[in-house]
Amino acid sequence: MNTTSQNLLDFTGRHVFVAGGSSGINLAIADAFAQRGARVSIASRSAERVAAAVEQLRRHGGQAEGHSADVRDYEAIEAALGAARERFGPIDVLVSGAAGNFVAPALGMSSKGFRTVIEIDLVGSFNVLRAGHAHLRRPGASVINISAPQADNPTPYQAHVCAAKAGVDMLTRVLAMEWGPDGVRVNSIVPGPIGDTEGIRRLAPTEEAVAQMAASIPLGRFGTTAEVADMALVLSSPLASFVTGAVIPVDGGSSLPGGRDLSAAVKAA
Ligand code: NAP
Ligand code: COA
Repeated sequence: MNTTSQNLLDFTGRHVFVAGGSSGINLAIADAFAQRGARVSIASRSAERVAAAVEQLRRHGGQAEGHSADVRDYEAIEAALGAARERFGPIDVLVSGAAGNFVAPALGMSSKGFRTVIEIDLVGSFNVLRAGHAHLRRPGASVINISAPQADNPTPYQAHVCAAKAGVDMLTRVLAMEWGPDGVRVNSIVPGPIGDTEGIRRLAPTEEAVAQMAASIPLGRFGTTAEVADMALVLSSPLASFVTGAVIPVDGGSSLPGGRDLSAAVKAA
């Protein structure tokens, strides 16, 4: 990237709020903004995890504050957003990334089990965006939902996540239309398999599963949390000022239908 585009990725003084920002991909996103001068607010359920993440963000040079809130609880997340705005001003970048997952066949999950993931991933994202809107810098704010490949790719043992994340991407598109006239852009980032994350530990719990998953990715490896964070930076910068309602994979090509299988077959022929 040349010097000009690096300046465009300077977030000094900007306020970034990351729901679910205490670990994994979301913490890497918060960290990337903190390292570029942003004032960062994070929120998740566990006060301890929030405190540890805030420590990390401050160590890396950012001003950071944490809030303990469950995205399923509208009043709690509304209060966290209000307190964050009070502390750091209008929100320039709002990231909704809180999620839950477990691997189970549809017949192996209770109605409550299914509803739990819908409520965290989908209703939670609605809550964060609905309550967050009042605090966004308008015009100019960038809103990012963290989706997943299951939104588009029917995946056995993932009925709850598939349904929830498909809803998240549709929320992205609808709100991009409703909030575009206010100068607010709304996009989804769709990470592919990302190494050293809780999501992957749940989906690929054995070395064999990890190797099989990596082999299905055209780039031949898992992504890193920093690579997802880079997309969040670009999407929130002037480099993406005309991008809204987009659902953007950061996945090494793993969402390309049959790409890997086809190239293996062609080589073998
Ligand atoms: P993670 O480390 O488990 O991150 C989940 C975060 O959400 C944690 O900070 C957690 O903190 C918070 N959270 C969970 N339930 C919450 C709730 N009800 N209210 C508020 N916060 C809540 O997982 P990750 O693997 O990095 O995944 C992060 C995001 O990337 C998710 O949206 C996931 O769907 C997406 N994604 C991940 C991958 C992957 O390869 N890992 C691939 C595609 C998409 P608390 O426990 O403190 O609440
Ligand atoms: N198989 C089937 N059902 C399961 C399950 C599994 N492996 N794990 C949880 N459930 C069900 C529970 O049995 C319960 O339903 P029931 O009361 O009818 O039995 C329901 O899901 C809710 O479980 P509970 O533990 O009370 O929910 P929670 O709100 O405390 O936690 C989870 C939510 C289950 C998603 C939990 O794993 C979590 O907090 N995850 C966050 C981290 C994460 O998943 N990271 C990866 C992100 S991609």
